[in-house]
Amino acid sequence: MDLLDSIKFTMERLETELIEQLKSRVPVAFEIGAHIMNSGGKRIRPQLCVISARMGGYEGADSIKLSGAIECIHTATLLHDDVVDMADARRGRPSANTVWSNEMCVLGGDFILARAFSALTAIGNLRILQIVSRATERLSEGELFQMMNIGNLELSEKSYFQVIADKTAILMEAACRGGAILGGLDSNKEEALATFGLNLGMAFQVTDDVIDYRSDRQTMGKNPGKDIEEGKLTLPLILGLKNASKDEKLVIREMVDNKKISGADLDWLRDFLDRTGGISEALEISRNFLDKAVEALDIFAESEEKNALVKLSDRILHRTY
Ligand code: IPE
Ligand code: IPE
Ligand code: MG
Ligand code: MG
Repeated sequence: MDLLDSIKFTMERLETELIEQLKSRVPVAFEIGAHIMNSGGKRIRPQLCVISARMGGYEGADSIKLSGAIECIHTATLLHDDVVDMADARRGRPSANTVWSNEMCVLGGDFILARAFSALTAIGNLRILQIVSRATERLSEGELFQMMNIGNLELSEKSYFQVIADKTAILMEAACRGGAILGGLDSNKEEALATFGLNLGMAFQVTDDVIDYRSDRQTMGKNPGKDIEEGKLTLPLILGLKNASKDEKLVIREMVDNKKISGADLDWLRDFLDRTGGISEALEISRNFLDKAVEALDIFAESEEKNALVKLSDRILHRTY
């Protein structure tokens, strides 16, 4: 049975919950939220949360509430991220900041974030509230630390991993851990699911950063080459730069300084990243994170839910958007 089939009903209830969470007496607050929320997100964090709760046999309403809150936090960060990254496309549509303004999207994102925390308090579990609050703090720290390193061609792999752990992986860890808590799993199993989520999240962001170079707007719904255009050094480029000649480094320096990437620049970069092994090494690292994620599930007996998590990790390596 396919992963989504087994939790289809729950995911449909999640959509209703999300609409509820976005409702506001100020129409534009809802409109901004609905624009991004109903545009085809993959809902990976809710899937992680719902399946983790089911690993402990829990299928009640709180896993939908928690999934909804986490998806709202993710959505709020995307609204803010597109302002920060000056992006004009998201999920194949004009991003909210181009439909409304940067200012409106910052405020709209704040509203959705606040709603997420209201939903969390409704669950009434202090540990879950602490975990998700801490994850949200780290998400902001990750985005800030990344911003401090804009244009830094010397960014180390270690710093890059710190950025992506904070901005992406910790929320996936929180989705799994929160689900495990709802499922009443013991601390070893909770830790195992958290390790799964963290490593899956690391692989997820590394793959996202590969896709930024490799994909196209049609497939991924965002514009390719955005990361270098913003001066954001990601793993493929960090690894590629290790094998770059002096001249190649100068070309890249100039591209980063120009803040505009042409089609020819992107072709050159793609060729450079193939030649220097930046893409293949990054994918190898992503594969290693996924192996670690799946390994963490060893302490669980075989089950439909465990298979679903393994399948999910498989999809991440092969994802194109
Ligand atoms: C996008 O996350 C931001 C990253 C962490 C790379 P997703 O790829 O999960 O976004 P949607 O929700 O499916 O659009
Ligand atoms: C992930 O980083 C964004 C957040 C976790 C907020 P990116 O900047 O790479 O995400 P995309 O590519 O815009 O979706
Ligand atoms: Mg972005
Ligand atoms: Mg990206």
